Amino acid sequence: MNERVGYLHDGRARDLQEAILWHGGEGGAAQRRYVRLSAKERDALLVFINSL
Ligand code: HEM
Repeated sequence: MNERVGYLHDGRARDLQEAILWHGGEGGAAQRRYVRLSAKERDALLVFINSL
């Protein structure tokens, strides 16, 4: 097994924001909603996810 370097199945996302932005298919609606958030709302979401 390779050492885990990032997010998504192949580790290509270096951080949470990249993982969110690279959602497609069924996850595409969540990606589009994320893109529409204000900078403040995005930060609040990332803080929440990192708290889990
Ligand atoms: C606020 C909404 C969402 C956030 C913050 C989010 C976040 C994430 C993150 C961080 C990962 C990477 C997990 C890892 O590397 O272990 C991931 C993977 C994934 N998410 Fe989401 N997600 C969201 C919504 C959704 C929705 C609505 C769907 C589908 C209906 C979805 C489907 C997937 C799938 C299939 C993967 C695996 C993709 C891959 O490994 O290439 N996500 N998500």
